[in-house]
Amino acid sequence: MRKKIIAGNWKMNNGPKEAVAFANSIKDSINGADADVVFCVPFVSLIPVMEALQGTDIAVGAQNMHFEDSGAYTGEISGKMLAEMGVPYVIIGHSERRQYFNETNETVNLKAKKALACGLKPIVCIGETLSEREQGITVDLLRLQTRIAMLDISKEDAQKVVVAYEPIWAIGTGKVATNEQAEEACKAVRQVLSEIYDQATADAIRIQYGGSVSKDSAKGLFAMPNIDGGLVGGASLKSDFEVIARA
Ligand code: PGA
Repeated sequence: MRKKIIAGNWKMNNGPKEAVAFANSIKDSINGADADVVFCVPFVSLIPVMEALQGTDIAVGAQNMHFEDSGAYTGEISGKMLAEMGVPYVIIGHSERRQYFNETNETVNLKAKKALACGLKPIVCIGETLSEREQGITVDLLRLQTRIAMLDISKEDAQKVVVAYEPIWAIGTGKVATNEQAEEACKAVRQVLSEIYDQATADAIRIQYGGSVSKDSAKGLFAMPNIDGGLVGGASLKSDFEVIARA
C-alpha cells in the first residue's frame, strides 16, 4: 500500500521571515495527517522552516539542485549541500525550470541520479503542454519523459523516487485536469515504470498529480487508484493546504 504524499511547491515565494510565520500558522493543523507532507521552500528558507517544523512530522524539500557536487557553477546549489543540511526531498525538472532555465529530460535524469546518490528523494516532474494534449501525444510524451528520467536508476532507488504528473496547461491556470484525465496519465506512467522495472517496483513508486489542485478538487483526485497525492502550487501558500493535506 503506497502512502500518499502531498507536497507544497512554494516556488519563489516566502523569504525566511514570511516562511517561518506561514509554517507556524499551519503546522499544527497539518501535523499527524495520514499522508507524508512536504513543504518545498526557497533555498534561503530551508533552515528556518526546518527549525520551525521541528517536533512535527512535516518534512521540507528544495525546489531544484545541480547535478555536480561542487565546482564553477555560479549561483547553483548541489544535492550534496542539501543532504548536508538534512533536507530530505528535492523537486527535479519542474516545468517552470524546463521552460525558463532550459532543463531537459537529460538534465532531469542527471539530477535525479545525483539526488539519489546523495540520499535525497527526488520529486521528478513530467507533463504535457496543451498543444501536445490536443495532438493526442500525451501518453507517448509521458512514456518518453519517464524513460529518460529513470535511465540508469536501479530498482531499489526507483522506489525512492516520487513522480509528479503535472500537465503544463493546468499549472497556475485554475484549469485542473479531470479525475479521469489525471488517472489515465498516472496509470500510463505506472505502466511504463512496470515495463522499465517490474510490476512490484511500479506498484511501490508514488505518482502525484499537480496542476491547480485546490481544496475542492483534492479529494476526488487523490481517491483515484493511481494518484498517490499531489504537488500543489498556489493553494500551498494558503490555509487551504491544511484541507488538501488531510484530503
Ligand atoms: P499550481 O502549481 O498548483 O499553482 O497549479 C502546481 C505546480 O507548479 O507544481
